[in-house]
Amino acid sequence: MNLKVKKAVFPVAGMGTRFLPATKANPKEMLPIVDKPLIQYAAEEAMAAGINELIFVTSSSKRAIEDHFDKNYEMENELEKRGKHDLLEVLRGIVPKGVSCVYVRQPEALGLGHAVWCAKPIVGNEPFAVILADDLINGGEKSCLSQMVEVFNERQCSVLGTERVAPEETNKYGIVKIDDTESRLHQLNGIVEKPHPEVAPSNLAVVGRYILTSEIFTLLEQTGRGAGGEIQLTDAIAKLLKIQNVLAYEFEGKRYDCGSKLGYLQATVEYALEHKELGSDFRRYLRSFVCDVGLDR
Ligand code: G1P
Repeated sequence: MNLKVKKAVFPVAGMGTRFLPATKANPKEMLPIVDKPLIQYAAEEAMAAGINELIFVTSSSKRAIEDHFDKNYEMENELEKRGKHDLLEVLRGIVPKGVSCVYVRQPEALGLGHAVWCAKPIVGNEPFAVILADDLINGGEKSCLSQMVEVFNERQCSVLGTERVAPEETNKYGIVKIDDTESRLHQLNGIVEKPHPEVAPSNLAVVGRYILTSEIFTLLEQTGRGAGGEIQLTDAIAKLLKIQNVLAYEFEGKRYDCGSKLGYLQATVEYALEHKELGSDFRRYLRSFVCDVGLDR
């Protein structure tokens, strides 16, 4: 039987302490890159890959995310009255017809593995994607998840989105062990959460994109607390690869670590330069700023 990926899980229960005070009352996933919140970029990437069920694993302080993907009658009425049809289209296009949103709460902050496990009753026995909205990926022509879905469709096994990181940064990521090959696709031999550079099996890091088979849920149930005292998805994947094939895929495109202030600013500048209404004005501004004011302080 040929399995298809139709569901995506978005773990969005985290506190976002790195962006305080901005994230005191506003979820970090709602921080905008130019004019669109990070979580919408993530949802759009999933939908572009053919996914039609968006599952958000939320917590009590994340209601703004539900509101964002819900209808706002008052605002739509007002825009209609004022004849702002272009903006109306923008609002109505956030969740296109045929796509549904489901919300489940993660009652305690027990880690990414636990967050994914919370989606078990909604995902059921299907393969599914996991997208971490902090990792914003510009895949160019084809989004990162679309590239991974193509790999899944052909190989019918779990696929992890990966990229090379600086060797001294392995302690920020899940790091995979592979037999080095020339291609972008590697057989996974091992995976470890946030290893110190001296013991890291490689510098190939998992970024926030996964396609997983449903067997991961049983393995998550058997996974105790790992790195940082949390239930780690990485540890359950290490168990999964003992019973099934798992692939590491080096995607084409550029990732921005929007969980860090520097990455967030880089994404803001680069997406602003490409923005269809703002791009040319912003480019002109940036050029004159650099020429007239300079960057040396
Ligand atoms: C999580 C995962 C880690 C992965 C990273 C990608 O870590 O646990 O394996 O490499 O996302 O962004 P976090 O960034 O939540 O600490």
